[in-house]
Order: sequence, then C-alpha cells, then structure tokens
Amino acid sequence: MNDITSSSKVPVHVSIIMDGNGRWARERGQERVMGHFEGVESVRACTEAAVEAGVKYLSVYAFSEENWNRPDTEVSTLMELMAKCIENEIDTFMKNGVRMVVLGNRARLGAALNAAIDGCMEMTAGNSVMTLIIFLSYSGRWDILQAAQKLALEIADHPERRESLGTMDTEDFGNYLVTAGIPDPDLIIRTSGELRLSNYLLWQGAYSEFYFTDTLWPDFRKPQFRAALEDFARRERRYGKVK
Ligand code: FPP
Repeated sequence: MNDITSSSKVPVHVSIIMDGNGRWARERGQERVMGHFEGVESVRACTEAAVEAGVKYLSVYAFSEENWNRPDTEVSTLMELMAKCIENEIDTFMKNGVRMVVLGNRARLGAALNAAIDGCMEMTAGNSVMTLIIFLSYSGRWDILQAAQKLALEIADHPERRESLGTMDTEDFGNYLVTAGIPDPDLIIRTSGELRLSNYLLWQGAYSEFYFTDTLWPDFRKPQFRAALEDFARRERRYGKVK
C-alpha cells in the first residue's frame, strides 16, 4: 500500500483540466490529433490510479463549449475519438466497477456520439467502485445559466413555489446544476503549466484545492496522478474559517 492509500486524506472527487495535447504533438513534429490519441492513454492511466487510490469520483474536462471554435477537422476527430473510446472502454469499466457519466450540453453532440454515451451510461449505471465523469461540451457559465433557466421555468409552471425562492440556499441551487448529486471537487488538477480555470466548474470549484503542473497531459500518468494526491494530502483546508 502506498502513502496515499493509507492516508485518510484521499480526495473524494478529483477533477482534471487535461491540457497540452497539441503542444505534446508539436514537440514531436506530429499533428495535434496525435496528442489527443496519446491523451486517451492518460485518461485510462488516471482512471486506474484513481480506483487504486480509493477516489470515488474522477472527472475530466474533455471538451469545453469554447472548443467548438477549433478547426472542423480537429473537432470531428475528437468527437469520433471520444465515441470510439467510450465504446471500447465499456468492458474495462464493467470489470473495474466504474460508472461512466457524461455531463454537458449534449444537444450539441452528434447522434453517433450521443448513442455511444447512452449505451455506456446505461451499461455502467449500476457500478459503484468509482464514477468517471466526462465533461463534454461543458462550460461553467453555461451550467449556471441552464440551472437558472430550469429554475425559472419551474417557477413559471408552479407559481405557488415562488415564495420558496426567498429561502433557497446554495445547496438547493446546486441541485439545478448538471452535477446535482455529485460532491464538489476536492482537488482540481491542471496540466501543461497554464494557470487558469478556463470556464470549468465555476460554482462547484468554490473550495477546491488546485494543483498545477508543467507536465503535458499525454505525459501525465499514474506516478504524476499519485504525486498530485500526495500533494493534496499535505494541504490544510479551512473553508474560510480559522483553524
Ligand atoms: C487539451 O489540449 C485537450 C483537449 C481539448 C481534448 C482532450 C480530450 C481527450 C484527451 C480525449 C479524452 C477522451 C475521453 C473519452 C475522455 P490542447 O489541445 O488544448 O493542447 P494545447 O494547449 O497544447 O494546444
């Protein structure tokens, strides 16, 4: 057993902003998509490492709402890669007790990818060792906006609930976000040396610990994931209070 698994400070939810695929490929004189192919191996390695460490939720920012503005060929390759990867991984998810969930603006995804997602989510729905969340066509502001829209429509349909708005708290509002029922991330990792949140989990990351590393995503494998967990275990979280 390594240090982190014997520690009580294993984060319940680890979230990763996977960054640096393009640079990884460029450094090798390859097309950007080669970085994405290699990045899938890192998703696999981190999923295994997370299960081994006892993490209950691992989430990855696979495609942001802003990523739709990338060149068409890169977008379509990424979408095909994700559909194929999701289909290919079902057996491994079943073997390891991993439930897969995709969250984001699924209306923008193509039929083939949505079908692959539905199939995998249904197959793995009963697995309980760990939940792997793939944020796809997601952005934090979009999430907060769709939550507000859902709430407004609910009140329009049920005017008698208007009074309850006054006593609504942040936990109640969280139930309208796409992450309803999922604990907020304890640790957010960003690879490739960028020090930004890039419109990711704006609400849910309010008290997350951040771990930034220069390692490019395709090079971020089990040892790097474990190093991030070890760093987290040394942090003292205060949630705005004095200790
Ligand atoms: C960021 O690197 C990476 C992405 C936007 C895509 C990440 C997606 C995958 C690795 C596929 C994962 C698949 C599943 C099923 C979870 P970048 O292209 O922004 O790199 P750069 O900053 O160096 O250009």
